[in-house]
Amino acid sequence: MNELHPDLARVLVSEEAIQGRVTELAQQLAHDYADVERIFLVGILKGAFIFLADLARQLSKSHSVDFMALSSYGDTTTSTGEVRLIMDLREPIQDKHVVIVEDIVDSGRTLKYLYRVLGEREPASLKTCVLVRKERDSLDVVVDYLGFDIPDVWVVGYGLDFADNHRTLPFIAELKESVYAD
Ligand code: IMP
Ligand code: MG
Repeated sequence: MNELHPDLARVLVSEEAIQGRVTELAQQLAHDYADVERIFLVGILKGAFIFLADLARQLSKSHSVDFMALSSYGDTTTSTGEVRLIMDLREPIQDKHVVIVEDIVDSGRTLKYLYRVLGEREPASLKTCVLVRKERDSLDVVVDYLGFDIPDVWVVGYGLDFADNHRTLPFIAELKESVYAD
């Protein structure tokens, strides 16, 4: 295997593990939504674009794809605590079966914001599909479809970034603390 980039401490979820789990999630979605005409996938930019691309291509059930862009962090690992809507969906979601596709749940603020904002638009159903969730005591937000639980460290790869770096790695790796601690 190639050497890890010096910013990275270790691989937490391998490319093989991700691909296997994405296939399983797509199969589970197709099974659970068998009686529904169409799934409306909402990818949260930027982080979810790679996960969504792989998930959607594995999904045998008919589906639409749309995007929202949100921001809760600046270009560091320090949360501002506030979620901002940068770009909204193109289409209304009323009476649609919506699945929010997100890269990671950390504090859960982003997902809570999405439940509230999208819930107000009266979709037929609203669920969430998240690739990784950080293990934290205080998390009280529902994830319907989850890829992996990971430790509470900063991770990059497979869509996840640090200041827009390392986003396109095929695996998920832990960033060395020395890279983001000042
Ligand atoms: P939350 O609102 O605290 O759950 O944070 C969710 C958002 O913060 C994610 O959509 C990511 O954009 C970002 N984020 C949180 N933790 C990480 C991480 O470890 N690596 C990269 N981005 C992260
Ligand atoms: Mg995100």
